[in-house]
Amino acid sequence: MSRIAYVNGRYRPHRGAMIHVEDRGYQFADGVYEVCEVRAAHIIDERRHLARLTRSLAELRMGLPMPLSALSIILHETIRRNRVRDGIVYLQVTRGVARRDHAFPPPGTAPSIVVTARAHDHAKAEIVAAAGIAVITLADNRWARPDIKSVSLLPNILAKQAARDAGAREAWFIDARGFVTEGASSNAWIVTVDGDVVTRPADNSILNGIARAVVIDAIAAKGLRLTERPFTAAEAKAAREAFVTAASQIVQPVIRIDGKPVGDGRPGSLTTALRQEFHRHAEFT
Ligand code: PDD
Repeated sequence: MSRIAYVNGRYRPHRGAMIHVEDRGYQFADGVYEVCEVRAAHIIDERRHLARLTRSLAELRMGLPMPLSALSIILHETIRRNRVRDGIVYLQVTRGVARRDHAFPPPGTAPSIVVTARAHDHAKAEIVAAAGIAVITLADNRWARPDIKSVSLLPNILAKQAARDAGAREAWFIDARGFVTEGASSNAWIVTVDGDVVTRPADNSILNGIARAVVIDAIAAKGLRLTERPFTAAEAKAAREAFVTAASQIVQPVIRIDGKPVGDGRPGSLTTALRQEFHRHAEFT
């Protein structure tokens, strides 16, 4: 079956889906995006993803390209046309096409909107999660606003490749004070030997993850202790469990950090429980 992409008002064959060479997303990474999980052909936590999209756009002084209800129809229609049951839907909005100039384009320049959807191999994802993943740590060299879900992802790309080169699947960024900020494409968590679940507060230094919010709800429902505070890589290496969260991975156990096993080197029981219970706390639309 051939894939379909939504591009600026049209559903196109994925192979021929094009954006102009002077799109500001292409030239300046002047745009934002969202990735939502698709499960049983439903979007997971669409409302919160669209609220974050609205915020990211506002922080970059961009308006919504269309009402959220219209965006929602396009997301669902792209999923339907691609017959995705389990996978992801991707939405990108840029400041549009204009003669290259760093300052904003003339008022009235139409934003560019792209939506794609992709199925993932559910069984394979479960095999990865059952084994757990390794992470490496490296200096956080991003700009001061990772809370904006901008398509400007060079540090994240370089970090992810460094992880891959080291035989790991994720890289954790470390801030100037030695604390973990987040992963290259996920939020970072530990469970201390005392059973406290710890994650960094969602300030400007990290992306306020939607999966993170769902896990916070799941932790409350289980009556567990959650502490939102920064933790160091050393503390993470000595933790009982560690995991990452993201729309595309839900809750992913971390079993090694910089080559050192976390706990007994296997996915933690609390992490596994949170992964299993995740969708009970998520919204399906
Ligand atoms: N990544 N931090 C960063 C830097 C991310 O890129 C992501 C998501 C997250 C987790 O956010 P959420 O729970 O809302 O997915 C945290 C997406 C999945 C991506 O870029 O593919």
